Amino acid sequence: MKRTEIREIFDNPSQHMGEEVTVCGWIKTARESKRLGFIELNDGSQLRNLQIVIESEKIANFDEIFKENVGASLIVTGTLEETPTAKQLFELKAETVQVEGHSAPDYPLQKKQHSFEFLRTIPHFRARSNTFNSVFRVRSVAAYAIHKFFNENGFIYSHTPIITGNDCEGAGEMFHVTSLDFNNLPLDEAGKVSYLGDFFGEPANLTVSGQLEGECMAMAFGKIYTFGPTFRAENSNTARHAAEFWMIEPEIAFADLDDDMALAENMLKYVIKYVLEHCKQEMDFLDELADRELLDRLTFVSNSEVEVITYTEAIALLEKSPKAFDFPVSWGCDLQTEHERYLTEQLFKKPLFIINYPKEIKSFYMRLNEDEKTVAAMDLLTPGIGEIIGGSQREERLDILIKRLKECGLSEADYRWYTDLRRFGGTKHAGFGLGFERLVMYLTGMNNIRDVLMFPRTAGAAL
Ligand code: 4AD
Repeated sequence: MKRTEIREIFDNPSQHMGEEVTVCGWIKTARESKRLGFIELNDGSQLRNLQIVIESEKIANFDEIFKENVGASLIVTGTLEETPTAKQLFELKAETVQVEGHSAPDYPLQKKQHSFEFLRTIPHFRARSNTFNSVFRVRSVAAYAIHKFFNENGFIYSHTPIITGNDCEGAGEMFHVTSLDFNNLPLDEAGKVSYLGDFFGEPANLTVSGQLEGECMAMAFGKIYTFGPTFRAENSNTARHAAEFWMIEPEIAFADLDDDMALAENMLKYVIKYVLEHCKQEMDFLDELADRELLDRLTFVSNSEVEVITYTEAIALLEKSPKAFDFPVSWGCDLQTEHERYLTEQLFKKPLFIINYPKEIKSFYMRLNEDEKTVAAMDLLTPGIGEIIGGSQREERLDILIKRLKECGLSEADYRWYTDLRRFGGTKHAGFGLGFERLVMYLTGMNNIRDVLMFPRTAGAAL
């Protein structure tokens, strides 16, 4: 069967006008009067539907077709005709219509607008709704744009392990991976679980970040990035935390924090521009859903400089703020969502880098600044989402790194391979992690991380 995609017809209508084409898709809406029926058909190649016109006199199974429910799949052969006076510029006059798959009458997606809460209860159907179809296409295009950006700039795509023995962020929020029998756990002499008989012979977990392994690759290739799934057993039931999410982690050798921020900003602007250019239908649809603010916001961001302030300056601004925060602010505290939102949404009204955080609230691998109180870290905050990027210049000085490992209660022996990177040709280097779902939320205007993942895994929910 020679099949033509609906997108191809919309992209080049004049080439197909008057021609016979076969399209395959799903019924979005159907209406009929006595002799004439109209079906809006969508085949997933674009957001827009193709109008199919079916005449009862020409089509023997006319009655059967219009007994079908929304969601049924059809194969339609017909002739493309111009309809200059109608809402759509052309339509397909059907010659044959074959029902490929029925849709039962209790199909949950009907023409009316469904709430996101309801749609979350049917994740297996969500991609068929206009909103989620748009979100997931933007997700795909944004992923491609990220690969394109890094490849055009000479970065090596590195696949870091999913199963690992280390806890990069040191927060202990890991999912354990084991082949031990939970109903009969082997214990050591001290009464603790013994991993000797476990698959790996030692504790293992799902990775929280590919950064440490990424650093190994950066010390060979100079510029690398990872793009893969990461897992965190954070029990935070918020609209921005998922237990399984995707992260992009570039790592650059011979680079400092300024180089790192420049890379993050260039990448972000590149992806925004690429999505605006390649997802016009979807972005228009989502813009309408977001009260026409989305496109203006993204265009503004892609054309303006990102502000940079230090953590110390951020604290001073928060302390001066007339707003009463639930979490009190003082130097040394971790910034909470309400603080981040105040800074980006109310004070700066645009994305903002905050740099040089106190070492106590950041990870062991971040480079200690000269003040010996702060580290060369950066977080990129965006209005509506908060932190979408976390990164730093890495500690390249072996003695200081070992001291930091100890201070953080980590074993030097476990990180021998990591400290080896400083023993053998270490360089100044930096990198960051971009939370892909948070980026997709920012690009699409979706407010809940559950709505940018096909089957979201969050605390208490894994369908
Ligand atoms: O700030 P984080 O924890 O940084 C790291 O993991 C570093 N190893 C990155 C690096 O320097 N290579 O996480 C990075 C980003 C955050 O800014 C956020 O966007 C996202 O990952 N993130 C999450 N996204 C969804 N759900 C969660 N539970 C997330 N935790 C972090």
